[in-house]
Amino acid sequence: ASNRHFFVGGNWKCNGNKKSIRELVELVNAIHVERNSGIEVVCAPPFPYLDFVRSLLKKEFGVAAQNCWITGSGAYTGEVSTDMLLDVGVDWVILGHSERRHLPELQETDETIAQKTKRALDSGLGVILCIGELLQEREEGKTLDVCKRQLSAVAKVVTDWRKVVVAYEPVWAIGTGKVATPEQAQEVHNSVRQWFRESIAPQVADTLRIIYGGSVNGQNCERLAGQKDIDGFLVGGASLKPEFANIVLSHR
Ligand code: G3P
Repeated sequence: ASNRHFFVGGNWKCNGNKKSIRELVELVNAIHVERNSGIEVVCAPPFPYLDFVRSLLKKEFGVAAQNCWITGSGAYTGEVSTDMLLDVGVDWVILGHSERRHLPELQETDETIAQKTKRALDSGLGVILCIGELLQEREEGKTLDVCKRQLSAVAKVVTDWRKVVVAYEPVWAIGTGKVATPEQAQEVHNSVRQWFRESIAPQVADTLRIIYGGSVNGQNCERLAGQKDIDGFLVGGASLKPEFANIVLSHR
């Protein structure tokens, strides 16, 4: 039990159309979150639907983009600036997602992710910063080294951690149905918090939300949510389904 506000993000990835997104927002709007529960709910639709989702989603729920550009407006064909995101009412941006780090066509580096994080925070957006190891890295015992490397790159540019949520997403658990056990997740979350205690500040370590992502569903969420250092979830596949409600309400 901590006094950190439980945070649940739905990362819709590259899914949906106007019709299905309207239906999905209706589902999310029907989730009854007690006003004083402190639970924070954030939906992350693809870029073309951000404005649409913001206009339909209950005001108490937040909207996140799945990426942003590293500077303001200008000659950057195909990119979307943080000013544009703010202009359409976006609150958060997901950065460092493993799909953007590891898809061969994208290959975002720690450095790029740090630049994007800086830009987003400087603009006033919150950042859902994803970290996590590949299966091979876990098998080689490098899980913490990888997480620390990914965090250190970003820590160089962050001066205020209050608008950052860290999402631990082991790559082998994403979209595979192979969820980390509550013990496996807790172990990493605890170590990450410890890293913040030693490398950043005890106060940041105590207040930072560290959420888990990777095959979270309506069945496994409760045991994960019961872990001391798990402060919520970043949900992919199950965020497109009615069970998202169970995940939001898994924190008791
Ligand atoms: O960002 C959330 C994500 O990568 C997890 O996806 O489908 O395993 O819940 P999924």
